[in-house]
Amino acid sequence: MNNIRQWNSVFLFITLQIFVANLVQGQNEDSDRHLFGAPGSPLRLPGSDPGLQNVVKFAEGRYNMGSNGLYLRRVSKIISASKQVVKGVRYSIVAELGNTLCKKPAVLADPAICEFHTDPNKLKTEVCVFEIWDIPWQSKFTVLKQKCQPAVASKETNKVEGQPLVPTKTDKESMELLSEFKEFVFKYNRTYSSQEEADKRLRIFQQNLRTAQTLQALDQGSAEYGITKFSDLTEEEFRSIYLNPLLSQRNLHRPLKPAATAHSPAPPRWDWREHGAVGPVKNQGMCGSCWAFSVTGNIEGQWFLKRGELLSLSEQELVDCDRLDQACGGGLPSNAYEAIRNLGGLETETDYSYTGHKQNCDFSTRKVAAYINSSVELSKDENEIAAWLAENGPVSVALNAFAMQFYRRGVSHPLKIFCNPWMIDHAVLLVGYGHRDGIPFWAIKNSWGEDYGEEGYYYLYRGSRLCGINRMCSSAVVS
Ligand SMILES: *[C@@H]1O[C@H](CO)[C@@H](O)[C@H](O)[C@H]1NC(C)=O
Ligand SMILES: *[C@@H]1O[C@H](CO)[C@@H](O)[C@H](O)[C@H]1NC(C)=O
Repeated sequence: MNNIRQWNSVFLFITLQIFVANLVQGQNEDSDRHLFGAPGSPLRLPGSDPGLQNVVKFAEGRYNMGSNGLYLRRVSKIISASKQVVKGVRYSIVAELGNTLCKKPAVLADPAICEFHTDPNKLKTEVCVFEIWDIPWQSKFTVLKQKCQPAVASKETNKVEGQPLVPTKTDKESMELLSEFKEFVFKYNRTYSSQEEADKRLRIFQQNLRTAQTLQALDQGSAEYGITKFSDLTEEEFRSIYLNPLLSQRNLHRPLKPAATAHSPAPPRWDWREHGAVGPVKNQGMCGSCWAFSVTGNIEGQWFLKRGELLSLSEQELVDCDRLDQACGGGLPSNAYEAIRNLGGLETETDYSYTGHKQNCDFSTRKVAAYINSSVELSKDENEIAAWLAENGPVSVALNAFAMQFYRRGVSHPLKIFCNPWMIDHAVLLVGYGHRDGIPFWAIKNSWGEDYGEEGYYYLYRGSRLCGINRMCSSAVVS
């Protein structure tokens, strides 16, 4: 399992090196070196690639149609380009565009005959990221993404005898980085024990920003990735504090009864938050107890639907008293149901409050507020999961949480390489599903506080079993 994760990291590292080195520094050496990767992963392209030329022409055309500038603009430099085989080919291009001498509307067969402005002030160079989807057998190009920003003034034009008049691109970037880091430290109230520690955290922060940029550039949904409250943690730290490697270990699973299939097909959308079955977002803190939050969330929903009362149930009881699981070291929902049945039920959050570390078990049967009678495991088909959810209540699920560390808002649709469905390491609660701007999503209640994602929620693309979301769906049963 570790190998896969390491391979993931190595791959990510390589992708980052190439992608970010190009994006940030505009380097373009050894552009013939193709990126080696798993089948389906993005492949780096040389600027001379014939397929790429057509795609760039198409992107230019669309860009000019969508802008109301006076001059026709053209790509002056391809900073980086990659393609990925999907249904057809998906191109990701980072390029510089500048004004030509041709005035619009110049409907030209070949805008390449238009020369560039020679005055840099009139050139108005921008750096753009294009993502173009090419379905060759339909002769169809689609723009998936087009994001442009003015290029930073180039060093040449600002240098006088080797002394920059204004900060160079690199200085400017590190100043921006520093100010973002300061903002982060202030916003999330961070204190570091020493200057060395602060320097180390700044480097990690920078690395995480790059990872977020890569996820952003390659996201196929509408998600925004960036600075989150985890931005000064290494992936290792994040995983060991918040995630739960036990979830990947299939052999530890207690087999559950299969759930009866839903009576009717899934309605187009459903959200249990609109039906009073979901309590406020909680915070697991620095403890790998996601499994406990996933299970209490499910039981809160089941109890509400059977008994009409929305309680807030105790995760700490599970952390302290569930001997089948490993408290802050991780656990499995299937074990937790069994433990709750053996204990006799769950106390409320008020009676048995969360501390985020393991203590002696202080459970009392007199304080049981909710019990369960059994538990079931759902189908692995996303449509059936949706239908079951709409009929029966929020579902305990688990997934690969790599992209979640960097997620801010929108519907997250990371590339598979960032979200291996076999590396399940986080348990959460599925509370609903629907479409947002045409993108099908799962609404996922997380346990990282309300200041995570969208008011504590994560939205994940639905329909391609992304991140293993379909692999461990279960529910308690209250008879
Ligand atoms: C910020 O952190 C300090 C020390 O860790 C703590 O005492 C203080 O309560 C925190 N403030 C907020 C607003 O979280
Ligand atoms: C469900 O479990 C509760 C508590 O253990 C028990 O009192 C109740 O009789 C059970 N219901 C059924 C139908 O088995």
